[in-house]
Amino acid sequence: MKENKLSRRSFVRMSTASVAALSIPGLLSAGPMSGLPTDQPAGQRFLPDMMPAWQPRTVTPGWDPGDSDSFTRYFFDSLMLETRYLDSDLATTRFRLFDETFDSPIMTAALSHLRGTDEESGLVVYSKAAKAVNAVNWIGMGPDEELDEVVATGAKTIRIIKPYEDNDEVIKKIKYSAKKKCLAVGMDIDHSFNGRGGYDIVMGEKMKPKTTSDIKKFVKASKLPFIVKGVLSVSDAVKCMEAGVAGIMLSHHGGRVKYSIPPLLVLERIADAVGGKMKIFVDCGVVSGMDAYKCLALGADAVGVGRHLIPLLKEGPDKVAERLREMNNELAGVMSATGVRSLDKMDPSVIYRTVL
Ligand SMILES: Cc1cc2nc3c(=O)[nH]c(=O)nc-3n(C[C@H](O)[C@H](O)[C@H](O)COP(=O)(O)O)c2cc1C
Repeated sequence: MKENKLSRRSFVRMSTASVAALSIPGLLSAGPMSGLPTDQPAGQRFLPDMMPAWQPRTVTPGWDPGDSDSFTRYFFDSLMLETRYLDSDLATTRFRLFDETFDSPIMTAALSHLRGTDEESGLVVYSKAAKAVNAVNWIGMGPDEELDEVVATGAKTIRIIKPYEDNDEVIKKIKYSAKKKCLAVGMDIDHSFNGRGGYDIVMGEKMKPKTTSDIKKFVKASKLPFIVKGVLSVSDAVKCMEAGVAGIMLSHHGGRVKYSIPPLLVLERIADAVGGKMKIFVDCGVVSGMDAYKCLALGADAVGVGRHLIPLLKEGPDKVAERLREMNNELAGVMSATGVRSLDKMDPSVIYRTVL
């Protein structure tokens, strides 16, 4: 278990500072929300061109303060590092997860419905890239046949299943994932409501919120480690731990709910609460090795990168792999400059919160 030196009180101070910054005149005018689509019609595909060179917006005049992606970016950028050169040397980013060894803690995010090149689907492109850099590969909603294609790339894959209304359907998919020797399986619990007072419908499929006892059932039915994605509170994290979950992905799913806290803001509290008993992953807005470093220093075991890579899909697996490699090299560089030689030596006291 990593030592968490940044106290909970310091996080409270941080959030107060952030709120103060929000009251600066000019920052409060409304802008469009960049959340991910919901109630997607069946068959819709997300083209790389729909997200050209995606970068989250930062805090500028016209910014919508409820836009969770923008605030997440703001929060990343408010964290600065001290350097520690003496007695440091080149760092290794070797990463162990569920008895497997990877070269990087920077993983692909659980994406779905992506178009890639003329020859291959977006998810196959992603998976080949993850395999090429020996990183953990996550995938989201999709039919079993798509999982077959992904697994055939040789990438060690974590499959995230939607919170389907029918738990038997969930259990069928869990069992199929075990048969295909996935690394782990899980559920994005944050896709159960549609934000308009109803249950969600995704690609024509009905969703339903899950109880802790449902999660226990899924854990029991799964021979693979079970992961819950979409945790953004100590309350959900502790329930997951009690249900026997092996890992949680802290995520607001690209801003599905307005005014969601950045995963980084709650990360340390959750790490304290779970005390190393579950793996902790973070996604949402990670676009560099530096972002990854900040997550890892504050208690994450690994991070996921989604939209940042989407524009590269049409250029094939080599381009996606190249970007993942660049990000990992940057992470290694920051680790060396802050005296961290390996991932288990990450230290939150390197991080300083500043107000932009
Ligand atoms: C096109 C697209 C499809 C996605 N599909 C899924 C999905 O099926 N399951 C899931 O858990 N998350 C899904 N996500 C959410 C991502 O896993 C991730 O939580 C989100 O994009 C935030 O990470 P990012 O800022 O790195 O993109 C999807 C995101 C995008 C952009």
